[in-house]
Amino acid sequence: MTTPTESPAVRRLDDWDAVDLSALLDDYGSPLYVLDLERVRENAGRVRTAFSGAEILYAVKANALGDVLETLRDEGVGLECASAGEVKRALAASGSGADVHYTAVNPPARDLDWVVDAWEDHPDLTITVGAEDTIDRLEERGYDGRLCLRVNPGIGAGHHEKVQTGANAKFGVPAERAVDVLTDAAERGFDVVGIHAHVGSGVSSDQLDDHREFVSRMGDLAREVSTAVGGLEFVDVGGGFGVPYREDEEPLDLEAVADATREAIGEIDATLTIEPGRYVVADAGVLLTEVNTVKEARDTLAVGVDAGMTTLLRPAMYDAYHPIRNLTADSSTTDGNGGHTSRETRPQTVTGPICESGDVFCTDRRLPASERGDVLAIGNAGAYGYEMANQYNSRPRPASVVLEGDAVRLARRRETFDDVTRLETEASAPETGTGSDGNADTDADREAHNDHDTR
Ligand code: LLP
Repeated sequence: MTTPTESPAVRRLDDWDAVDLSALLDDYGSPLYVLDLERVRENAGRVRTAFSGAEILYAVKANALGDVLETLRDEGVGLECASAGEVKRALAASGSGADVHYTAVNPPARDLDWVVDAWEDHPDLTITVGAEDTIDRLEERGYDGRLCLRVNPGIGAGHHEKVQTGANAKFGVPAERAVDVLTDAAERGFDVVGIHAHVGSGVSSDQLDDHREFVSRMGDLAREVSTAVGGLEFVDVGGGFGVPYREDEEPLDLEAVADATREAIGEIDATLTIEPGRYVVADAGVLLTEVNTVKEARDTLAVGVDAGMTTLLRPAMYDAYHPIRNLTADSSTTDGNGGHTSRETRPQTVTGPICESGDVFCTDRRLPASERGDVLAIGNAGAYGYEMANQYNSRPRPASVVLEGDAVRLARRRETFDDVTRLETEASAPETGTGSDGNADTDADREAHNDHDTR
């Protein structure tokens, strides 16, 4: 386990070495995701220091790469999973179900089938449910293991309305029903271990009051539930810690958030649990992409790159800001590291190759004048970057490399055109060995995937 060091609260895009990054693109091709595992460790270390005594579960959905999960398990961080697929990854990285939580949101039958199956081998796995009937569906499958209830606290926060969950009907059981639901679950033989809520993602310092109010409600609820059900192991207040995407934005004061959390929750006879995702991986990753088209448009310089909304969806989906740096221009300065290029700067619109007008990384942003063949780096791409990548326009997903000290390793190869059509090819040739759903790698998976969704 890494001892907490004085790691900086944020790594800016300018802190990456332009020459080293450009060399990676030469070696591995474009576009390319780069993730620094040492920075992942540092970020986890700062969370652990600020929230000492709390249990930390990393939200796998932010970046599910096996290397990330293994690195975090080595750091003593648990794993919070949003699907059976993520549970499968978490168990592979962890080897045990302890500190692996599955947060079931409207869980498809095949997810419940798979997770309950896995629970037989990993009885210390925890399932968090967000609806009463999910409890019935678990009971039907013979599950009576560790159960946590996700409540809807009625307060939402986060960087965009699409990531605010705390007051959204989709998530959790209204908090006022929690005592009844958990009393009933305990009577039915479930091992009731915790309560959970998550207000949203990318919560900033100016939303600290909402956070305080939310945590204070969770503290009250924990005391009520403990009295009714007889003690809880943990109170999970979710993730959501924001990171600065803009160059002039200050990082979150994590110590202040931790202090506010402890104060607001009050006296509880249970472990405080948190589920950071973005905070742990965002600034550990960059996306590299090559300029292929430079065009004087009517009122801007349109710069086409080979990454697009299929590679990094956040700008198209949330109008999210990501810093962009021209590594080729910066490499021509003496230090190649945050140095300023002598190229003139001018407003540019950086766009991808997808046939959608929303396929834009920035509009009229002042950058060193781009030239064809330049390498651009897009910062803060470690969280919800590759995870949200897709094959729209039949575009293969990029490769990912990880950095570990001075070592560089290909962590996930680039997809090929054959990968894009593989599922069709295999559907018409089932003898290729992956089963008729073309996606199964064990008999159990195969059965689960072929099952009709009747439960
Ligand atoms: N716990 C639960 C139950 C969650 O649903 C989430 C995120 C987290 C923890 C972690 O939140 P974080 O610490 O990463 O903010 N794709 C969006 C973010 C969606 C987050 C969904 N849930 C984005 O790119 O901004």
